[in-house]
Amino acid sequence: MLSRRKVLALGGVVSGATLAGVFRSAQGADVSYDEHHGMVMPKSQPWREVTDAPVTPFTVPMPLPSVLTPTASHDGCDFYRVAIRTANAEIIPGLQTPVIAFDGRFVGPTIRAKVGRRVSVTFDNRLGEAANVHLHGGHTPSASDGFSMDYINAGTQRVYDYPNLQRGATLWYHDHAMGFEDVHVYAGMHGFYLLDDPAESRFGLPGGQYDVPIMIRDAQIDDTGAMIKQDPDARKVLIANGKAQPYFQVAARKYRLRLLNASIYRFLTLSLGGAEMIQIGSDGGLLPAPVSRTELPMSPAERAEIVVDFSRHPIGTKLVLSDTIGPVMRFDVTRHAADQSRVPDALVPPPSLPAATVTRDFALSMDPDNPSHYINGRTFDPNRVDVSVRRGATEIWRVTNKDTDFGGEPGVTLDHNFHLHLVQFRVLDRDGGPPLPGESGLKDTVPVRPGETVRLQATFTDYPGRYLYHCHMIEHSAYGMMGRFDVV
Ligand code: C2O
Ligand code: CU
Ligand code: CU
Repeated sequence: MLSRRKVLALGGVVSGATLAGVFRSAQGADVSYDEHHGMVMPKSQPWREVTDAPVTPFTVPMPLPSVLTPTASHDGCDFYRVAIRTANAEIIPGLQTPVIAFDGRFVGPTIRAKVGRRVSVTFDNRLGEAANVHLHGGHTPSASDGFSMDYINAGTQRVYDYPNLQRGATLWYHDHAMGFEDVHVYAGMHGFYLLDDPAESRFGLPGGQYDVPIMIRDAQIDDTGAMIKQDPDARKVLIANGKAQPYFQVAARKYRLRLLNASIYRFLTLSLGGAEMIQIGSDGGLLPAPVSRTELPMSPAERAEIVVDFSRHPIGTKLVLSDTIGPVMRFDVTRHAADQSRVPDALVPPPSLPAATVTRDFALSMDPDNPSHYINGRTFDPNRVDVSVRRGATEIWRVTNKDTDFGGEPGVTLDHNFHLHLVQFRVLDRDGGPPLPGESGLKDTVPVRPGETVRLQATFTDYPGRYLYHCHMIEHSAYGMMGRFDVV
């Protein structure tokens, strides 16, 4: 539909043979950053013809990401170690796909944290080049937030401290290294971080083995198994928890499903063949009240927690979770099970809205003629403070997607979304109208449709220092659609 995308989709090829080449340039502190142009694109590789590997849907079970065990627990803190390394993953049965992954697992190990109890993770970078880690959705001190230039250099380690002083929520961790986050996350640097608030057990929501995180993303995989990163529209393999179109056997009862769109570019629109999905949570935790849906749009990095009641379907039913381009996975109802769980009418009220003292405008746009992406007309510069926020201030951010009639072509539009580090925000309105269903709680990432203006309100509590905001189509942020805000 948009041929210009091919020009804009300057990816690299991620495969065993080319990993070294793709990552060679990310060694030093600022190799991928250029004083004159703001960004350089060492990861670009010549376009090549690709023969896609065929995928037969529903032939493998969907695994659950393993849960990480602390190496030690003392002084109110759980300590973990995670290696960042290359590995092979069997995403499509019978094919080995080279990946870069946390502990070598294509969905990284899940870190389970509790509200009010600290977590300290030592990330050990065993790659031949720099990487780093950001806890997406975390209320995190600046030094542990994975600012673009805070590299974990090749062969070194870095300790990240997470205070967990925020609401229970489905968070995730991923790479955020300057100019390379798109390559690294696409290559597999993504994992769940589930922050549990024990007080939420009062709601009686499905728990334990009936509380299932599902990381959904796309990829293009060629017939040798290599992941190809060039044309975003060619990423037609839909992957759930690291497997292409798996099946998942469920009992005829209610499940809490924690969905994450970990794609670096694709907007998903999920449906369950018309079956009801009761949304109970979003990025920042539980909603004020459940929302019944049959369609669930998710832009990159957004989370949606849904409850699905499989007892409404007879044993033997197979329910396909689909995106508009095809099936993501299939739920097979295979057995009976007792179910004491419920979905109460009221969940967690959002925090009050203190009066905002500052309003700011952010315009997202791309350049049709070169691979520069902008916020307020500027590409990202990690050394430039775009916004200074007073600690404790409440602000309204008006975010507009300017990409209508892109490149002067009437009707050509581009999607974007918007993510803010450090704090969860409220969505006040969209073009003056109400927020979308599912946006009534706390959010850290929202879609911003072509021409649309979304107003967000946030209170910047606790931690001073440098942070980021950006489009979370990471192929946009990695080419400059990102800004720096400092809390002072
Ligand atoms: Cu999910 Cu700035 O990141
Ligand atoms: Cu983030
Ligand atoms: Cu964008």
